Amino acid sequence: MRVELENLSKRWGNAVGTDSINLDIHDGEFVVFLGPSGCGKTTTLLMIAGIYKPTEGFIRFDDRIVNHVAPKDRNVGMVFQSYALYPHMTVFQNISYPLKLKKIPKEEMQEQAQRAADMMGIGHLMDRKPAQLSGGQQQRVALGRALVKQPDLLLFDEPLSNLDARLRLTMRGEIKRLQLESGITSIYVTHDQVEAMTMADRIAVMKEGKLQAYSPPDELYDQPRTLFVAGFVGNPPMNFLDVEVDRESGEYHARREGFDITVAADRGAKAAGRGRVTLGIRPEDVTLADEGVPGETYVVEPLGRDDLLDVRIGDASVRVLADPTLGLKIGQAVKLEFSTHKVQFFDSATEQSLLWAD
Ligand SMILES: Nc1ncnc2c1ncn2[C@@H]1O[C@H](COP(=O)(O)OP(=O)(O)O)[C@@H](O)[C@H]1O
Ligand SMILES: [Mg+2]
Repeated sequence: MRVELENLSKRWGNAVGTDSINLDIHDGEFVVFLGPSGCGKTTTLLMIAGIYKPTEGFIRFDDRIVNHVAPKDRNVGMVFQSYALYPHMTVFQNISYPLKLKKIPKEEMQEQAQRAADMMGIGHLMDRKPAQLSGGQQQRVALGRALVKQPDLLLFDEPLSNLDARLRLTMRGEIKRLQLESGITSIYVTHDQVEAMTMADRIAVMKEGKLQAYSPPDELYDQPRTLFVAGFVGNPPMNFLDVEVDRESGEYHARREGFDITVAADRGAKAAGRGRVTLGIRPEDVTLADEGVPGETYVVEPLGRDDLLDVRIGDASVRVLADPTLGLKIGQAVKLEFSTHKVQFFDSATEQSLLWAD
């Protein structure tokens, strides 16, 4: 099923939940709403589920406007952070509950509930109560319950936030596999950019109720359209430096005090002659080299596979990933090479990428 949001806004008096969101979700697509707490992710999801009424705008399922369709008639499955299981009911009763509401015959109900439970790997736990299950198993029950009614749309609201890091990793993969196998159009809300990057076909980045970007993960990562998106996606985060760009003997230079690098012509040309702009570069696109911008290590954080360095260049600081076998220490003089084809430029005032401008 396709989902389309048109100028979708939700307000409570002066409080803004979402502000004129436009979004189209393809049939079978896995879309992630990503953004910091309070940016309007849950509000949008609850409007799609029919629990919140939009203040303005339209929600379409395929081509049908569903603004006034009751939640129970939308055929949507939901999974929340709190598993919201009925504590006095068994796993079987929890999973089959949506079917019971639909008055499905008992035998059919048993068969469908078992299939959903087997899919989630909890088919052998049907007689347990939620209190007798681990957090991961409880979330699988909640998933089974969302799946059992064969919904046209699955909605997930931070479903893995209560699980420990290791289990989160496992469940992330399982939800993704399940979605691919079932082909059910899915919307997944998270503030965790790693979850978003690993699971999504497309990511909708939100900030203060507004849609900031809507792109596949790699595009979001490589060609962020705004400073906010650039800084929010990626860990360790992108470095930002105020620079001025000019052209000198056919080459584009980005400069600030103690800093002068050449940048690729197609990028430099978009930033040159504008006065101060914001240069962005990811830590993995800065390397230690024999020749380059001189700096001094200020922090050295061993991450295992890499050391994360904080290198001071004048009054600026740049995060760099380095080979741990170099054994770098704090206060060491280093030289940095910047990947000239990887630099981003943003308008410092509007925070829009200059690389996307015509
Ligand atoms: N029932 C409500 N009444 C007033 N403001 C609300 C209500 N629900 C959410 N909000 C506000 O709307 C904004 C978005 O909230 P929410 O969608 O829950 O954010 P997120 O899920 O991204 O953390 C927040 O500023 C929040 O305070
Ligand atoms: Mg929320």
